[in-house]
Amino acid sequence: MIDQLNKLRDEALAELSSIHDLGELEVWRVKYLGKKGALTAMLRQLGTLSPEERPAVGQAANQVKARLESQFAEKEAELQQAARALAMERERVDVTLPGRPLALGQLHPTTRVLKEILDAFVTMGFQVVEGPEVEWDYYNFEALNIPKDHPARDMWDTFYVSMDGKPGEMLLRTHTSPNQVRVMEKTRPPVRVIVPGKCYRYEAIDPSHESMFYQVEGLAIDENITFADMKGTLSAFARMLFGQDRKVRFRCDYFPFVEPGVDMSIDCYVCKGAGCRLCGSTGWLEIMGAGMVHPKELERVGYDPSVYSGFAFGLGPERIAMLKSGIDDIRLFYSNDLRFLRQFR
Ligand code: PHE
Repeated sequence: MIDQLNKLRDEALAELSSIHDLGELEVWRVKYLGKKGALTAMLRQLGTLSPEERPAVGQAANQVKARLESQFAEKEAELQQAARALAMERERVDVTLPGRPLALGQLHPTTRVLKEILDAFVTMGFQVVEGPEVEWDYYNFEALNIPKDHPARDMWDTFYVSMDGKPGEMLLRTHTSPNQVRVMEKTRPPVRVIVPGKCYRYEAIDPSHESMFYQVEGLAIDENITFADMKGTLSAFARMLFGQDRKVRFRCDYFPFVEPGVDMSIDCYVCKGAGCRLCGSTGWLEIMGAGMVHPKELERVGYDPSVYSGFAFGLGPERIAMLKSGIDDIRLFYSNDLRFLRQFR
């Protein structure tokens, strides 16, 4: 039996030496030292031995047991130490690594150009106000001399909002011009306001048309305001944004709410009027629509057209930004492509 004990010890120790993790070690413990383990089974057999044999075998068995237990403890400590070292290594922090840079936010290109536009007019005494994006048909069209059957409605198709009892009366505004009327209804002259905001149109989307875009409306009403005041104000604006040597051009255009109506262009600052790709070989860049506010519109808000007159204008900030920064597709503004947006710092 002593031989068996020694054989068991040698086997157990050989196995133990090839163990490399705590899981295997536990299996080993159960196999040899567990309640149903090999050594325990042999210890149980001690009772069957004769009284002469028992002391020697008992001593040998206890030695084997003690040996296995101490080897087990040693191995366990060794493996635990190794596991701790591994965990430490995994969690190690290299404090000398440079920090990750925080992503700095920046203003959207539309916001940047809006600020520039508003600043220019604020310097000239205009006040910034805002109006609703969801608008009544009355303000978007009727009050601007565009009744329901007017052909000009074709230029401004939009999205309608369903409204119980008032079908077809509520819409997403197609321009900021409704604010001419809203401002005049609430105030008396002198009026000098600038109204930035989002507008919507039912458009076939292409590089120069989006269904959502911004406009900036301007309105100046007082006694004795003339077409010359309009030209002076708008020319000053164009030079603030596009350079002091800009030439400006006003040509007749039609908007039902102004009379006379114009479109305003600046000479192309790339080719200085000679003709290039930016201006489509015309030498001119259109930057806004404008005109003298129609007397009927003034009457409607209770302004006496024989006493008061004034001008209004509307411009597209995206178009201004496109011209200033050489952007050739308006869809880039609202498609959230960071490769585009990150260029405006
Ligand atoms: N609201 C016009 C448009 O959207 C622009 C405009 C504004 C023209 C004011 C004249 C005066 O096209």
